[in-house]
Amino acid sequence: MALLVLFTGNVFSQAPAPEADPEAGRRLYTSFCARCHGINLVSSSGAYFDLRTFPRDDKERYLKSVNEGKRAMPAWKGIVKPDEMEAIWAYIGKVNNWGPSK
Ligand code: HEC
Repeated sequence: MALLVLFTGNVFSQAPAPEADPEAGRRLYTSFCARCHGINLVSSSGAYFDLRTFPRDDKERYLKSVNEGKRAMPAWKGIVKPDEMEAIWAYIGKVNNWGPSK
């Protein structure tokens, strides 16, 4: 992991931030989120927010809720890094067929 960070750091240091990677997001989602929100965003329980219905134009709300937590959901700030949250957002968009991110 440290090597990967070094490597991408060198390659992208002068370039604009690369597009968030939905495949990386899928892996992160599976580790951190799927136990509540379900595989492929399909939750077994209505107690957890159905991420298939999340408004695509409200990324601000996504970031706020995920960073700070919301009621029964723990805060992820400090556990999930900002670029990882972007990747998970890209993954949610991919599953929901939102098309290119705005
Ligand atoms: C311990 C179970 C649990 C885990 C793990 C979990 N969530 Fe949640 N999440 C919830 C619950 C419960 C809610 C509904 C909160 C409410 O509105 O009462 C929720 C709601 C949300 C919402 C909607 C918030 C809103 O503004 O309405 C988003 C987005 C979300 N979760 C994303 C994530 C992401 C991304 C992860 C992984 C980093 C994750 N959650 C992990 C339990 C969980």
